[in-house]
Amino acid sequence: GFSRRAFLGAGAAIGGLAVLAPTRTGVARAAAPFEPTREVALTAGEMELKLLGPDKPATRILAYDGTPFQTLRMPRGTRLKATFVNGIDEGSTLHFHGIRMPNEYDGVPTLTQPLVQPGSRFVHLLPLDDPGTFFFHPHCDETGQAGKGLAGVLIVEDPRDPDFDAEHVLCLKDWRLAEDGSFLAMSEPEGAAKAGTFGATRTVNGTPSLDLTAPAAGHVRLRILNLDSTRIMDIGAEGGEAWLIAVDGHALKPVRLDDLPDGIWRMGPAQRIDLDIRMPSDGSPVTLGDYRAADIYPFATLRADGRVARPRKGPLALPSAELPKPDMKQATRLPFTLQQATGQAVKDIALPADDPLAKALIDSLCVGSTTYWGIQSESWPTGTNRNVPPPLARMEEGASYVVAIKNETRFPHPVHLHGHAFEVLTSSLDRLPRHFADTVLVQPGEVVEIAFVAAPGDWVFHCHILEHMETGMMGWFRIV
Ligand code: C2O
Ligand code: CU
Repeated sequence: GFSRRAFLGAGAAIGGLAVLAPTRTGVARAAAPFEPTREVALTAGEMELKLLGPDKPATRILAYDGTPFQTLRMPRGTRLKATFVNGIDEGSTLHFHGIRMPNEYDGVPTLTQPLVQPGSRFVHLLPLDDPGTFFFHPHCDETGQAGKGLAGVLIVEDPRDPDFDAEHVLCLKDWRLAEDGSFLAMSEPEGAAKAGTFGATRTVNGTPSLDLTAPAAGHVRLRILNLDSTRIMDIGAEGGEAWLIAVDGHALKPVRLDDLPDGIWRMGPAQRIDLDIRMPSDGSPVTLGDYRAADIYPFATLRADGRVARPRKGPLALPSAELPKPDMKQATRLPFTLQQATGQAVKDIALPADDPLAKALIDSLCVGSTTYWGIQSESWPTGTNRNVPPPLARMEEGASYVVAIKNETRFPHPVHLHGHAFEVLTSSLDRLPRHFADTVLVQPGEVVEIAFVAAPGDWVFHCHILEHMETGMMGWFRIV
């Protein structure tokens, strides 16, 4: 017969379109023409930034398009053609974190595409159907490349969003710097095997703190991104009313920050939140901070500038997320355990750089020769299979799954699944409201259950503390 798929393919070929790609994610696999409505090039390169202060030496960081935390904004429904140009002197790839997309544009070297060599490019065709606060970063030598600043922000705007009186984007990231502005080693074994190797120079949008404005009695939307490689932050606000309105870009029923445990939202690397802050009507300021460290890090002050004519009560909720809803009655339950380096497959391996196995390893992960972590007693790389290990699970496209993630280690792990927005169902520590996300923080001893409708492809599942990922806490799901 003349299948619909063949028909669409033939039609597109007759139309002279060179590019064919699925435009729906997790629903249909039939190829349909992808007609870009927006094209961008993102060029990775070096640039100088004064991170230590105006009178101190600058640092040669990495950035896209010579702009630290390059920020793209586009409307929901955009068909984005993004050309990654590798202008740095080592292999790289571009990964759009949290975007549901055809697997071939996911940016994972070896698994979904070859490494992009210096001077080369790779074209990503991305349907931007989910509104929200997303970001992009390399998926290769991430401790090195993202650690040096290579990351950008992708905001997908929804025209149905409420009208905020002000909006600000805040990218939090620490830097590992010597006094002369050069980078310290991004990873130390002591850190990689434990909570991670921390940076001491804390920044928001590349500066020590931000002075922002918003009208008194107005509503401010803050998009806060944890772009650090390592640090888990406790985000809190003082002085105004604050509601959590989205997690990882996806709307949730607004929750007062004050109604959450300790009045904060605990946010691991790669996680994002949107807050609605209602400014005090008396014109007093609001401060935002990370309250986790012994030294509180106040990273932004919102000062009143003018006042709104007609104050509105809060919260200003976002339209509810339109995501595939897992079928909980039919869902298959799969448990996964996060482990420390104790199992048989999880052991130290140190290979000389000229070993062919080391090269295979470097092709799949770009760095790493030591394994401190595992999932289900498997590490990527493992002692026996140093290239791509077998999948952690095989799943069926369109079927619903409940994945129970159990953290048997002594450290928290922000666990990320590519290509999906999952629903966070339960936390055994009872910490979390039900919400959609692409990354979820799992505390020591905790079991967190997530559910999703499986989208076709080979998708990695890993800790987003970059050193943990690069030393074994990564696996992948094959969904067909
Ligand atoms: Cu931001 Cu594999 O992830
Ligand atoms: Cu981890």
